[in-house]
Amino acid sequence: MARSKTSQRWLKEHFDDPYVKMAQRDGYRSRASYKLLEIQEKDRILRPGMTVVDLGAAPGGWSQVTSRVIGDKGTLIASDILEMDSIPDVTFIQGDFTEDDVFAQILDAIGNNPVDLVISDMAPNMSGVRTADQARAMYLCELALDLSARVLKPGGDFLIKIFQGEGFDAYHKQVREMFEKVQMRKPLSSRDRSREQYLLGRGYRGN
Ligand SMILES: C[S@@+](CC[C@H](N)C(=O)[O-])C[C@H]1O[C@@H](n2cnc3c(N)ncnc32)[C@H](O)[C@@H]1O
Repeated sequence: MARSKTSQRWLKEHFDDPYVKMAQRDGYRSRASYKLLEIQEKDRILRPGMTVVDLGAAPGGWSQVTSRVIGDKGTLIASDILEMDSIPDVTFIQGDFTEDDVFAQILDAIGNNPVDLVISDMAPNMSGVRTADQARAMYLCELALDLSARVLKPGGDFLIKIFQGEGFDAYHKQVREMFEKVQMRKPLSSRDRSREQYLLGRGYRGN
């Protein structure tokens, strides 16, 4: 089957992309690793021994970065709707995060561990219908914030991928109410034309 112009452009960009080449060289499963590494370089959100929840983790780039920093004494619980090849000492839950039983399985895996950091790089498959895509993306963000409110310890941090558009301002306000400090991050490795940004909430105020 002939490839569309869009998929040809995507393939060309993908193979020319320096971050794709770096990921292959450095043994990371995705170019997304460099987004977390850049945020880590600036904000030092990961530290040895932490308990971290990684949402939308597949294929595992962020989980690789996280498990390397938190080390043997850390705990990482990762989840995605897709399969993910295992990473030593990472608990992985496969399922749709919008389903109650998957949300409950993640809570179960966390148990009574006070969580230091929740990271979410979740993004729905884009249909191209902007309003519908934005609504689905915002719903995932809402659920990730809900999980964070339940599991983060006071003082804990939250990092989430978010798209500018309908619902962004209200969400930003909600995060500002829950965290002492809120910042936006657009790593260099995030493609310029992508509307994605990362919202970083630091210092969870607790319930
Ligand atoms: C940009 S990728 C994440 C890349 C990952 N952070 C890494 O470093 O390899 C976004 C992920 O969100 C996941 N996702 C989208 N909708 C989801 C849902 N409803 N439940 C769970 N995961 C979902 C996708 O399957 C996809 O793996």
